[in-house]
Amino acid sequence: MTLLSSVRTTLVWLLVALCLPSTTAAASLELVNITLANNPTNVGFYIYVPDALAPNPAIVVYPHWCHGDAPTAYMDSSIANLSSEYGFIAIYPDSPNTVDKCWDVASNASLRHNGGGDSTGIVSMVQWTLAHYHADASRVFVTGVSSGAMMTNVLVGAYPEVFAAGSAWAGVALGCFAQDIAANVTQPEVVDYWNAACAAGQVRLSPAAWTRIVHEAYPAYPADGWRPKMQVLHGTADETLNYTNLGEEIKEWTAVLGLPGTPTRTQYHTPLANWTKWTYGQDDWFEAYRAWNVTHNIPVQDSVLIEWFDLACNATVKGSECFHWGQKRN
Ligand SMILES: *[C@@H]1O[C@H](CO)[C@@H](O)[C@H](O)[C@H]1NC(C)=O
Ligand SMILES: *[C@@H]1O[C@H](CO)[C@@H](O)[C@H](O)[C@H]1NC(C)=O
Ligand SMILES: *[C@@H]1O[C@H](CO)[C@@H](O)[C@H](O)[C@H]1NC(C)=O
Ligand SMILES: *[C@@H]1O[C@H](CO)[C@@H](O)[C@H](O)[C@H]1NC(C)=O
Ligand SMILES: *[C@@H]1O[C@H](CO)[C@@H](O)[C@H](O)[C@H]1NC(C)=O
Ligand SMILES: *[C@@H]1O[C@H](CO)[C@@H](O)[C@H](O)[C@H]1NC(C)=O
Ligand SMILES: *[C@@H]1O[C@H](CO)[C@@H](O)[C@H](O)[C@H]1NC(C)=O
Ligand SMILES: *[C@@H]1O[C@H](CO)[C@@H](O)[C@H](O)[C@H]1NC(C)=O
Repeated sequence: MTLLSSVRTTLVWLLVALCLPSTTAAASLELVNITLANNPTNVGFYIYVPDALAPNPAIVVYPHWCHGDAPTAYMDSSIANLSSEYGFIAIYPDSPNTVDKCWDVASNASLRHNGGGDSTGIVSMVQWTLAHYHADASRVFVTGVSSGAMMTNVLVGAYPEVFAAGSAWAGVALGCFAQDIAANVTQPEVVDYWNAACAAGQVRLSPAAWTRIVHEAYPAYPADGWRPKMQVLHGTADETLNYTNLGEEIKEWTAVLGLPGTPTRTQYHTPLANWTKWTYGQDDWFEAYRAWNVTHNIPVQDSVLIEWFDLACNATVKGSECFHWGQKRN
């Protein structure tokens, strides 16, 4: 090899090396265009897999709000930022209900475990992601705002064996939007029904009635079976889903989890001024936040999600202390 050709070769390699960073595209939102095992309503499947994916990563499912979609939920939330920082996978399901792009949280199909509605398709995405990325089945989380928070309540109640924890911002209790609950319409069933009575805070049930509804969501699940931990947050000035719904969520989950219906701990100005945090029972399994004078446009607090889902935990060994509240599953 002549000196000149050697220099040329070196230059070529230098150029290749210099070009590498620009040819390696940074992670972005991807459409997973595959036929899932069980997605009867054809929910769209978008995913964000960060460049620095943690080994045995956690999964956060983020269903969007009404009139939103997966790309908007990706752009207008900090979930992907948290994913990049902490190495978990974010799933952004996209509602097939084109009229209002809300989630179906009203039909029995969606309210029931494997009922064949939107919730079934979302869980199918979780199962595909667990297998495809060797993700951690003991750290599958769900959070959302508004319609996404309603779907969070549904997924946590109907799929307790799939989710480890939920965080619902300005939503309603599982079953509150059911078509036949207050509107008193059973035929014909409308998918993606807007339950105005629930939205206005007029669906008020006893803890026993809420418990029955959650158990109906998955009748085969043992009454004393393990359940995900749950947190609910709501603004007192919510003009879309009345603040009364926070109280119904509190009744529902404290009853289902066998916790006292009144808080065992109250923390004022947490995490923001004029927000109040209530904890029920001793094990931090359920908590509720009243956001004073906050409208439906509730500002999601990353710090609350990071703590609740233990996202900053980066232990690489299975069975280590990440999400130490949870049931250890393999
Ligand atoms: C998904 O893939 C099919 C072919 O398998 C294609 O026809 C369709 O356009 C794709 N959808 C999107 C949104 O890219
Ligand atoms: C994270 O946040 C910044 C703005 O603070 C934004 O520019 C960026 O696109 C976000 N998304 C990701 C995936 O990091
Ligand atoms: C629901 O429908 C039944 C039968 O039509 C009726 O008797 C009952 O009063 C209705 N309840 C409400 C809350 O409208
Ligand atoms: C949904 O299920 C409930 C209870 O299982 C039942 O009472 C109701 O009639 C069902 N609704 C429809 C529209 O089938
Ligand atoms: C929520 O409902 C209550 C009782 O109906 C009502 O007084 C209150 O004004 C409603 N809140 C908002 C923000 O509309
Ligand atoms: C908290 O509430 C007080 C009294 O209503 C009010 O003066 C103050 O501006 C509020 N602070 C915030 C950050 O909303
Ligand atoms: C409530 O919030 C509004 C703005 O959304 C503000 O104008 C008003 O002063 C606040 N009230 C209190 C008591 O903080
Ligand atoms: C895990 O976290 C520790 C402390 O924050 C940090 O020093 C370490 O680099 C992290 N490891 C990985 C693989 O992210």
